[in-house]
Amino acid sequence: MSGNWPWFGRPQPPVVADAQTADAAGLAAIHAASFERGWDIYEFEHLLADRMVVAHVARPGGRGSPTGFAMSRLVLDEAEIFTVAVAPAARRTGLATLLMQHHLARLAAAGIKKVFLEVAEDNVAARRLYDRHGFVEIGRRAAYYARKGGAAAAALVMERSLR
Ligand SMILES: CC(C)(COP(=O)(O)OP(=O)(O)OC[C@H]1O[C@@H](n2cnc3c(N)ncnc32)[C@H](O)[C@@H]1OP(=O)(O)O)[C@@H](O)C(=O)NCCC(=O)NCCS
Repeated sequence: MSGNWPWFGRPQPPVVADAQTADAAGLAAIHAASFERGWDIYEFEHLLADRMVVAHVARPGGRGSPTGFAMSRLVLDEAEIFTVAVAPAARRTGLATLLMQHHLARLAAAGIKKVFLEVAEDNVAARRLYDRHGFVEIGRRAAYYARKGGAAAAALVMERSLR
């Protein structure tokens, strides 16, 4: 009998936890699959070693490589979420929602009062995610994200209070 029984062969529910330095390669792989310019393992190792960076990962059954992550940088009592990404095969299953709930709860518990982020205006999935988590638009940078073979997309600056 498998040591994983009764989950053997079945999808395992995701578990969210603090990211570890050893997750750098997994995060770089998800990032490369999610953005035109991926960050490499060394960039992630550097970020994960930064005391002002808070990062959470989701893993199936809490084991193995991450399938999604959320990362913020803290400045006094504010945070900027600079990446939320989910591996393509794991998208649209509520994983980013789970990560955001956990991440925002941890930021609030750490005394963070306001959270900021930037999102491309044409990123339908991310905008839906952020709208659902109470972020509101507070600024717009026209033609901010270059798009291959098309017009650059605006960046929306969004904010949410954690009070
Ligand atoms: C944005 C992203 C993190 C969403 O991850 P996900 O795990 O698929 O999101 P969820 O399944 O939790 O869905 C969150 C909401 O977005 C909606 N959504 C997700 N993908 C969508 C899509 N392609 N089109 C429209 N809506 C979408 C879901 O229906 C859900 O809305 P609901 O709460 O009203 O049902 C994922 O698409 C991704 O990694 N994209 C590439 C990286 C990126 O753009 N990150 C954000 C900018 S930093």
